[in-house]
Amino acid sequence: MSNKKRILILPGDGIGPEVSFVAYQLLLLLDKKFSLGLEISEGLLGGIAYEETGDPFPKETLDKAKESDAILLGAVGGPKWDQLPADKRPEKGLLGIRSEFDFFANLRPAILSKELVSASTLKEEKVADLNLLIVRELTGGIYFGEPRGRVEGSDEALNTMRYSKHEVIRIGKVAFESARKRSGKLCSVDKANVLEVSAFWREVISDLAKEYPDVELSHMLVDNAAMQLVREPKQFDVIVTGNLFGDILSDIAAMLTGSIGMLPSASLNDTKKGLYEPVHGSAPDISGKDLANPLASILSVAMMMRYTFDEEEVASTIEHSVESVLASGKRTQDIAKEEDTTIGTKEMGQEVLSKIELR
Ligand code: IPM
Ligand code: MN
Repeated sequence: MSNKKRILILPGDGIGPEVSFVAYQLLLLLDKKFSLGLEISEGLLGGIAYEETGDPFPKETLDKAKESDAILLGAVGGPKWDQLPADKRPEKGLLGIRSEFDFFANLRPAILSKELVSASTLKEEKVADLNLLIVRELTGGIYFGEPRGRVEGSDEALNTMRYSKHEVIRIGKVAFESARKRSGKLCSVDKANVLEVSAFWREVISDLAKEYPDVELSHMLVDNAAMQLVREPKQFDVIVTGNLFGDILSDIAAMLTGSIGMLPSASLNDTKKGLYEPVHGSAPDISGKDLANPLASILSVAMMMRYTFDEEEVASTIEHSVESVLASGKRTQDIAKEEDTTIGTKEMGQEVLSKIELR
């Protein structure tokens, strides 16, 4: 890694550009305040990239991503591109960049801010102080397994769920290490009662557990895990699971915190390089209206500071500033209740920035 901290922003589609612009302003402020030596560039990914180049993940973006230490993504996708063939769709751009850099470890924390307990659809006692981490395998499983596609000359289509030992071990290690730093509890989620690939996953994870005698490992079937997440979410601390199950469970976990608009994520490979993105999508219904919640994008910058740049102080400054804005009662519409003052994307961004300036 060079001395400079090179960051590539890929605003993408829908609300992506709005929340990414807030993140950009945040990065400029952090750079000044903490003398970080940031070098920020911008690129195309998703639907916008398809519009301008015919490719959702153009070579120019790949080159820029190679030259950067961390990538911040807004969001990709929208109804406009729904009719495109699979390889031109905006999502293909996102899957392409994840796969290209082997960002196999997707960390999705679901933390309920104490200011937002009432925003959750679950009862307060079920979710107060909720803090769980989903470790989702991101570059394998059914998302990438071959063979896939339409079966030529027949009325069939298929995808393949496939995991190698190497893939399970490397995501398992990330999960065990995370659990070790937290409560020491890890739950591995699979469908081992039906799928061979899951039985294999369970075997490999159980084997790996021998290297982590201090971590208490449990296994749960994915249907039960979905139920348990809404029944008694605080029984979990770290969950590790495959790509598809992690996609679904992380949306459930996100909603426990009141709004998917709050949650950041990090996708990491074996180096410090990472792709950081909000868990939310491109929300075309509210795009361009200054309604989107920029906090997931802001908190993704905090994760970037922590995981790629080892700037723990910067990361916690961002997180504390977000907490104190929420404590002041300011809310974007997705997390607002009637008595709250509702503010837009830009103003929410300004609020967080001014708290950071004051620190
Ligand atoms: C996510 C998204 C993506 C996924 C889509 C947009 C490809 O839902 O990051 O969770 O399924 O991984
Ligand atoms: Mn998803």
